[in-house]
Amino acid sequence: MSVNAGKDEAGIARITLEPPSEKFQDSFFQAMAEFAGEGNRQVAADMSQEQFPAYVQQLHDQSLGKNLKEGYIPSKEFWIIDADGYAGRIILGLTFVPTPERVGHHVGYAVRPSKRQHGYATKALELLLDEARKINILKLMPECDSTNIASRKVIERNGGVLLDRMPNGEPCEGSLRYIIDLNARPTNLDL
Ligand SMILES: CC(C)(COP(=O)(O)OP(=O)(O)OC[C@H]1O[C@@H](n2cnc3c(N)ncnc32)[C@H](O)[C@@H]1OP(=O)(O)O)[C@@H](O)C(=O)NCCC(=O)NCCS
Repeated sequence: MSVNAGKDEAGIARITLEPPSEKFQDSFFQAMAEFAGEGNRQVAADMSQEQFPAYVQQLHDQSLGKNLKEGYIPSKEFWIIDADGYAGRIILGLTFVPTPERVGHHVGYAVRPSKRQHGYATKALELLLDEARKINILKLMPECDSTNIASRKVIERNGGVLLDRMPNGEPCEGSLRYIIDLNARPTNLDL
């Protein structure tokens, strides 16, 4: 694989965000095997091929606030897709209201190990911000562990401004909370 694999000539990751779909079944399961290989337990880690259609349906339901597990908020999951299919996922909480007191998971993402360090997560978050804008979510609060250098860079490259670090003894202790304020960022419409 060349250094530029997965990028175009300008060095930008060649990915799209797509709704979860059964058409990505093969690459999805290959990705789950890769995550398992690095000891990263994904939500669908134990899923069989037969359960896949129901899983896809569950993700669609989640975006509509249907059949939510206790404590979950409606969320929209997109799959990060490249020429080989499923390369990861990125999720946006739909009813999360970022406040200084609030700890939560407003934004989440994971890129399959074989596709990392090609700019996929950075580009995926950029594309997610476009999706957020479309539905008038203009303030996002991603968070990540302070030791997760890659994730910190992904957030900061997308305009994330560090808000604070969760104190010891609090849920998610040590996590860094960021704010991405889309009101403060130029859009194509401003050009
Ligand atoms: C965090 C994660 C999503 C990053 O995905 P990715 O597609 O490799 O990220 P990018 O290629 O856009 O890289 C972003 C920056 O992080 C750097 N980076 C990526 N992996 C890195 C690593 N393991 N160590 C140090 N830096 C790393 C990249 O070089 C890039 O920096 P640069 O622009 O200065 O070169 C991926 O590592 C992952 O899925 N990890 C497991 C799940 C996870 O931690 N999710 C985030 C939870 S908050």
